[in-house]
Amino acid sequence: MTARIIDGKALAEQVRSQIAQRAAALAARGEQPCLAVLLVGADPASTVYVRNKVTGCEKAGIRSLRFDFPANVAPEVVMAKLAELNADPTVHGILVQLPLPPQFNESEVLEAISVDKDVDGFHAENVGRLSQSREAFIPCTPHGVMKMLESAGVPLVGAEAVVIGRSNIVGKPMAMLLTNAGATVTVCHSKTRDLAFHTRRADILVAAVGKPRLVTGDMIKPGAVVIDVGINRLTDGPDAGKLCGDVDFDSVLPVAGAITPVPGGVGPMTITMLLENTVISAERAARRKGL
Ligand code: GUN
Repeated sequence: MTARIIDGKALAEQVRSQIAQRAAALAARGEQPCLAVLLVGADPASTVYVRNKVTGCEKAGIRSLRFDFPANVAPEVVMAKLAELNADPTVHGILVQLPLPPQFNESEVLEAISVDKDVDGFHAENVGRLSQSREAFIPCTPHGVMKMLESAGVPLVGAEAVVIGRSNIVGKPMAMLLTNAGATVTVCHSKTRDLAFHTRRADILVAAVGKPRLVTGDMIKPGAVVIDVGINRLTDGPDAGKLCGDVDFDSVLPVAGAITPVPGGVGPMTITMLLENTVISAERAARRKGL
């Protein structure tokens, strides 16, 4: 058997065209969606992500505001900008690119963003709401994974799901979303004793640890759905310089039932969900204003 490829790029394009229509409808009612993006320092990966977010906004008809701060900026300066953006009724989404330099307390910064504008879904209140299955902004990468599972028609109720990774950005919210959807979820991480024991039981396996090609074909249940969240740049070997995921695509392909590629899998869905959250926030603002 060869796994079906779940094409995140094609799905992202389809969803983005719906988002662009919603953004245009809002603009016509006088509420153009607007996302503010804050970048501290010049980490190369973060710089690329921020550029892609801004470009994604432009293409969808969402206004974007970008604020760049030097790596040694005083936290108060960033906090003052957040207060200004929170109070600005024309701004619907606020995002601080992570990671932040060491002088920052990350949770303090994330909690300084208005819950209503927290389109990344990292504010403790949104995290709590998600854990209680209440309406919340859902973190973009795991939300994108759920959309991919849905579009691929993967049954979730009663499924055995295994998530590798326990980060606040992907692993933990992913586990909550799968749990809320009725899956039986196991969360594995760097201290898990026998990773393959767990992964071999998975009907759905989500790898989000940042370890190149960690998951190999012998760790997969035949027919399983394998979602690769990893984006790693290989530093040595014959493929040096290439991007690869946390899944060893070539050895998993003949065993799995469906698999996401890297690149072209989960990546394009992450920014798509950020754009959707921004439009949702703008739609709520328009409703509040009676537009
Ligand atoms: N750093 C890595 N992923 C993300 C993300 O989804 N949002 C933000 N703000 N920072 C990140």
